[in-house]
Amino acid sequence: MAIERTLTIIKPDAAGASHIGEIITELERAGFHILAMRKMHLSRAQAEGFYAVHRDRPFFESLVTFMTEGEIVPMALERENAISALRELMGPTNASEAPAGTIRGKFGTSIERNAIHGSDAPETAAVELAFFFSRLELDR
Ligand code: CMP
Repeated sequence: MAIERTLTIIKPDAAGASHIGEIITELERAGFHILAMRKMHLSRAQAEGFYAVHRDRPFFESLVTFMTEGEIVPMALERENAISALRELMGPTNASEAPAGTIRGKFGTSIERNAIHGSDAPETAAVELAFFFSRLELDR
C-alpha cells in the first residue's frame, strides 16, 4: 500500500455544532497526518467552483446553500491508503444510513448534511487539494 494524500472538509453542519475537535481526534486516531488545515467561509462562487462536477444535479443549488451557511475546515490529510481509509471512516454519503461508528453516523443527519467530505479518487484528490491549498503548504 502506498502513502496517499486526500482532501477532507468538516462541513458547516458539523463545524457549526462544535464538532471540529472531535472529528480531528477521530482522524488522528485513525492514523491520518494533517499536512495543512484552514478554517474559512466559502463564498457562493467558491462553493459552485468546488462542486462544479455536480452542477447539473437537482441537489446542486441546495448543496451550495448548505456549504456556504457557515464556516468549514478543509484539511490535507496523509496516510497509507488515505482515500479509501477516509471513505471507510466517514461512512456512506447518506448520513441517515451511516453506521453508528462512522463520522457521518455520529455527526451527520441526512444525505446533504453529512458532516464531512472526502475525495473519491487520486485524480479528484489532486484537484481538490489544489483548490484549497498552495504548493507552499503541500510541498514537503
Ligand atoms: P460529498 O460526497 O462530500 O460531496 C457531494 C455532496 O452532495 C455530498 O457529499 C452531499 O452533501 C451532497 N449530495 C449528494 N447526493 C445528494 C442528494 N441525492 N441529495 C442532496 N445532496 C446530495
